[in-house]
Amino acid sequence: MVVPSSALRFATFSSIITLCLCSAQARAEAGAGGTANGGSGGATASSGAGGASDGGGGTSSGGTSSGGSDAGGSTAAGGTSAGGSASAAGGMSGNLIKNGSFDGTATDPWWKNASTSVDPPADMSMAVTNGQLCATIVNGGKNPWDVIIGYSGLPLVKGQAYHIKFSITADVARKVKFKTGLGVDPYSDYFIEPFMIDATAKTIEYTYMNLRDDTNAQFQFQIGHYGGDDAPSAGTVCVDDIVVEPVATPMQPPYTTSAPSGHPFKEYTKIVKMGTAVDTPIFLSNPLHNSIVAGEFAMITPANSMKMNLIQPKQGMYDFTDTDALAAWAKASGLEFRGHPLVWHTQAPGWLTSPKDDAGNAKVFTKDEMIAIMYDHIDKLMSHYKGQFKYWDVVNEAIDNTDYRQTFWYNTIGKEFIDLAFQRAHAADPDAKLVYNDYNIEQKGNAKGDRVFEFVKDLKDRGIPINAIGFQGHYFVEPDGTTSNGVPDMQAIRDNMARYKDIGIEVQITECDFRIGKPLDDTKQQLQNKFYADMLQACIDAENCDHFTVWGLSDLDSWVPSTFPAYDYAHLFDTALKPKADYTAMAQVFAKYPTDSMPAGTGGAGGAGGAGGSAPVAPAAPASSDSGGCSISSSKTGSALWLLSALGAVGALVSRRRKSTRG
Ligand code: XIL
Repeated sequence: MVVPSSALRFATFSSIITLCLCSAQARAEAGAGGTANGGSGGATASSGAGGASDGGGGTSSGGTSSGGSDAGGSTAAGGTSAGGSASAAGGMSGNLIKNGSFDGTATDPWWKNASTSVDPPADMSMAVTNGQLCATIVNGGKNPWDVIIGYSGLPLVKGQAYHIKFSITADVARKVKFKTGLGVDPYSDYFIEPFMIDATAKTIEYTYMNLRDDTNAQFQFQIGHYGGDDAPSAGTVCVDDIVVEPVATPMQPPYTTSAPSGHPFKEYTKIVKMGTAVDTPIFLSNPLHNSIVAGEFAMITPANSMKMNLIQPKQGMYDFTDTDALAAWAKASGLEFRGHPLVWHTQAPGWLTSPKDDAGNAKVFTKDEMIAIMYDHIDKLMSHYKGQFKYWDVVNEAIDNTDYRQTFWYNTIGKEFIDLAFQRAHAADPDAKLVYNDYNIEQKGNAKGDRVFEFVKDLKDRGIPINAIGFQGHYFVEPDGTTSNGVPDMQAIRDNMARYKDIGIEVQITECDFRIGKPLDDTKQQLQNKFYADMLQACIDAENCDHFTVWGLSDLDSWVPSTFPAYDYAHLFDTALKPKADYTAMAQVFAKYPTDSMPAGTGGAGGAGGAGGSAPVAPAAPASSDSGGCSISSSKTGSALWLLSALGAVGALVSRRRKSTRG
């Protein structure tokens, strides 16, 4: 335990962290370059004050018994209870961490790992310094996460919630991934997004819902080392007051919508069914987060748990634990569940991307083997959830600009892997609606958008069972405020929806977000508000668009900062899980329509709100981009001015028709 100093007392804030409790084998995988496999939300961080207090030890402000540790002063960060209320569970034992306060000089049983198997090798020392456990990094090694402080042998019980808390600081600003979680081989990683640490001590605190029995789970701090948005190699990172203790499962608090109409999104499913992406295991650990999702949304998509590396981590070994837990929660909460994704080249398991024979030598899967692997994956997932999941993203991101993407699926099977995937999926669950899902395909006139339309039309013409196109909808404004690359032409999106209608294909907005290049300012926020409102309006106005999913609930559990380090603030709720202006902009669009329970024609709140209304026609057709960031060509010059002027447009001519209920 570090002696508190006034220098450590700062305002409370919230932050997302990366976490995973891992199996012993995870110790060896540390240098893998930080695959963000899953997890989100649930974590809160509060800086200095209270968190790292040594005030008498034992009892936290949240009522948490720290089992004799010095975890006193546990702060419910931000008052959001986003990390779950850390109320002590009656009769449960205390802190599972032995030596989490570092009152003596012993570092045991904490271990360090600096990967020496790469060039340059990592190098570090570890010692108790000034009442904290400190890692001094001499060389960060080759990979971003080659330096680790870890703890092994945590006995975690399936279905048990754990209160987790620690304080952390660094002499120079750097990124750290904190892992807690599941150690069932080969389930080694559950990451949330990395978080930044610096000389300001932070207390990270949340409740973690453990889904698997594990006698040997790990608790790791993975320390980033390299430049840019990460940190320099050399330096010292110190941790203290580490608590992992069983607690009662936090209660999901009641939810009251902040929509000005008083009606949450989910009351407008006959207009458009709104969904959000969610993640395990932290999603299930975060009662406030869950309460918002269940109270506001009608549908969820698992952000990671159905990715092939997680759901089939070893060939033929399927692990439905996380998805089952999410699906059960969704069912109990009355939410629809979208299956995502079945066939994708990203987040694929090592056994598939780098296959080895029994002797450990590299091998190559034949075409027939690859088809059998794909079929087995489709069969197992779709039969497991048969009749439960109505919509499935069967093939994800198979087109790269205007050609087939060169992936292990395409390169081994050929382009027919797409036909085969849809046919197999249809056979596996004939009642399921099957979706092709991709990014930067939303706009007619965009090269990729046009190519994918032709591709889907061809599937349809040839009788391949495809029902819907998934427009991922990832857009952005750049750090310098430039909009020409990342703000779409709404008319081009509307035109694209219309041509899909003409060929009998539904449109679903499957992963919508709008990331803002740092720093945030009012102009960028206005662009974001308008984007979300206009995308929703376009979907409402299109007869063939009934599903609209935003990719993550909040800036607390966002996938954006670690994927696009220069961007953030992409979502509808902020890091304290409070609704933002973009949420209100969408709510104002819905407010123009009757809710599901209102008789048709009774309408909503009258005129469109500030951000509502359909967009005026943009001056130029969008061109191509192959960016995962969904950029569009700079040939769309002038759109920035157009969009800025359009910001003032309110109450634009919007169809008020009530959509027929589909899906
Ligand atoms: C993202 C997740 O949100 C992240 O947590 C993960 O690290 C990477 O994948 N297109 C997709 C989604 O189809 O599955 C991706 O989700 C975002 C891009």
